[in-house]
Amino acid sequence: MEIKVNKSKKIGQKYRPDDSELGFGKYTTDHMFLMDYLSEKGWYDARIEPYDFLRLDPTAMVLHYSQEVFEGLKAYALKDGGIALFRPNKNIERMNASARRMVMPEIDPDLCMKAMTELILLDRDWLPKSKGTSLYIRPTMIANEPALGVKPSSQYLFFIVLSPVGAYYPEGFSPTKIYVSDKYARAAEGGVGEAKTSGNYAPTLLVSTQAAQKGYTQVLWLDAKEHKYVEEVGTSNIFFFTEDELVTPPLRGTILPGITRDSVIQLATHWGVRVSERLISIDEVIEGCKSGSLKEMFATGTAAVISPVGQISYRDKDYKISDGNVGELSKKLFDEITGIQYGHKEDPFGWRVRID
Ligand SMILES: Cc1ncc(COP(=O)(O)O)c(C=O)c1O
Repeated sequence: MEIKVNKSKKIGQKYRPDDSELGFGKYTTDHMFLMDYLSEKGWYDARIEPYDFLRLDPTAMVLHYSQEVFEGLKAYALKDGGIALFRPNKNIERMNASARRMVMPEIDPDLCMKAMTELILLDRDWLPKSKGTSLYIRPTMIANEPALGVKPSSQYLFFIVLSPVGAYYPEGFSPTKIYVSDKYARAAEGGVGEAKTSGNYAPTLLVSTQAAQKGYTQVLWLDAKEHKYVEEVGTSNIFFFTEDELVTPPLRGTILPGITRDSVIQLATHWGVRVSERLISIDEVIEGCKSGSLKEMFATGTAAVISPVGQISYRDKDYKISDGNVGELSKKLFDEITGIQYGHKEDPFGWRVRID
């Protein structure tokens, strides 16, 4: 499908923050990609337009029943002036898997890649260049049929917006403090925990607000049935490194299959580390903290890549990991993955996809 381009007449008029002011998701670029869907017609009218508000009927189904899926990935400025994405095919695959779970139409992967590429190249002036910064890409699909009955929508809107984002660790790589929730749960078996859909996020806000008030950065979720097994942390997957094993919870439908998670598993395996995708109970984690056999704990995700955990709070007690320091494996994984993303390191797996 051809993508029509309607260039903004207001280029240069939007506020352009300094790289140090960027933060996460506060600013958007000059253009957006849009495409419509009707069940009798399929996807049509792929277009790039000046960035603007959406027009939605107040009864648009997404507003009432959360029939929505989205993705999050980044574009990186290379030293030679080029631009690269990191494993974008995985995000597109995951978006289509989320769409199937939410009874929404899939998108042609080639068209999605073309839409992201054309949009980024048109707005390439917005790609920040300082260390650790990037252009965040947010593809989103919403149900926009105006109808109040609960059923799958017959009408959808797909859009992509871009947001220049700052370095996650402007003051250096530092460990976080996390709070274990043993009362509330994020997702249950048979639910939609593995889909990247908006309804998975609002229910986490109560606990993350309470955790933040107590001084913790993120919430570690346990399984919904027994509140026993570790699931994931905030908007990241979680890993535990003991003397001889790197453990991460298995994909059994309740956690997001993270692309950073998959990259960590592949890299660590490639380096000869024994990686186990297995259930790990919170008791095993606390025991490991007490005995010192748990050497490192870190979260993985597109935003921070690797986020080392220095302390966890469980049932009103705090436990330290690696004495609150950053572990060697966490640092090595962070350096390797960011090195591949920004083009400073070899890319043996072919993860870096140049778009220019
Ligand atoms: C709930 C949740 N878990 C894990 C992740 C990490 O996934 P990825 O590594 O693909 O960013 C994310 C972020 O997208 C998330 O929202």
